Amino acid sequence: MKSTAVACANIAFIKYWGRLDDELNLPLAPSLSMTVDALRTTTTVELDDDLKDDILVVNGVEQEGKPRWRAARFLDALRERSGQEARCRVTSKNEFPHGAGLASSASAFAALTKAGCAAMDLDVEPWEASALARLGSGSACRSMFGGFVEWLPGGRHEDSFARQVAPPEHLDLRDVVVVVEGAEKDVGSAEGHGVARTSPFLDARLAHLHESMSLAKAAILDSDVPTLGVVSEMDALSMHAVMMTSDPSLLYWAPETVRLLKEVRRWREEDLGAWVTLDAGPNPHILCAGEDEPVVRERLRKAGVKDAQVFSCRAGPEPKLVPKHLA
Ligand code: PMV
Repeated sequence: MKSTAVACANIAFIKYWGRLDDELNLPLAPSLSMTVDALRTTTTVELDDDLKDDILVVNGVEQEGKPRWRAARFLDALRERSGQEARCRVTSKNEFPHGAGLASSASAFAALTKAGCAAMDLDVEPWEASALARLGSGSACRSMFGGFVEWLPGGRHEDSFARQVAPPEHLDLRDVVVVVEGAEKDVGSAEGHGVARTSPFLDARLAHLHESMSLAKAAILDSDVPTLGVVSEMDALSMHAVMMTSDPSLLYWAPETVRLLKEVRRWREEDLGAWVTLDAGPNPHILCAGEDEPVVRERLRKAGVKDAQVFSCRAGPEPKLVPKHLA
């Protein structure tokens, strides 16, 4: 009746932006990511027959409004699937800035899925756990697997889930995340997806995306970091072009984002293999081969970035149950 899980966030090389169905979080297109080991959420779920409502505590603060509602709605889906009726006390801890475009919803709902299913004694196949996580946050379905992961878009709940493309040890890729702003964003991805269709560039992006997807997947399987880097940077820019040209226009970048994008381009001219991708936030994720990571960190220091702002991630594992509860 009480379970705790640890789950990692993920960084997408080919991004999910725009939905076919808002209720079920069905995407318009496939996406591809790496589960990242250093951006983790730990969540304890406890069923309690005496509770009238679900309770959500994140980083020591009891949540009201939208965050609590989203968690409760998600727990309703798990209750429906498991036949459990009790409300839950959910206690969660993030090891990175929450709501700063670091995909905190992915690790949050992946951890909630893993711990929630265990607490409700719900034993599901990995594909179904992924489909369930998707109901909380689309990108969370990819965090249900370790390593390199693709999301098969599908058209119904039962056929929209993620699967592993390659295990974590397959490719030593690093995601060097620079937190240029740790504050909550104005427009979260949950609302952002809803306006993607208003951009005149959405169709152009989707027409191109399938080719990028094949190139990126093949690059992962061939351990070809430069191709993966080039395709990822291009796809992130294409997603941000859609964001910027939607109504309302979503401009997630900060001046520091642009400065670092240009820095990384300069490094490439000097033959350092580094590429940038960005989620729905201002924080650049610098992709590079493991052997180049110390050089990337050194260049960031020279560019005036403090070590405390930087998280270096490797390909991480799937969510795991742990014996130590948070509460
Ligand atoms: O899962 P959501 O609704 O938070 O959407 C995630 C969207 C991006 O992070 C911008 C892209 C992605 O594929 O992770």
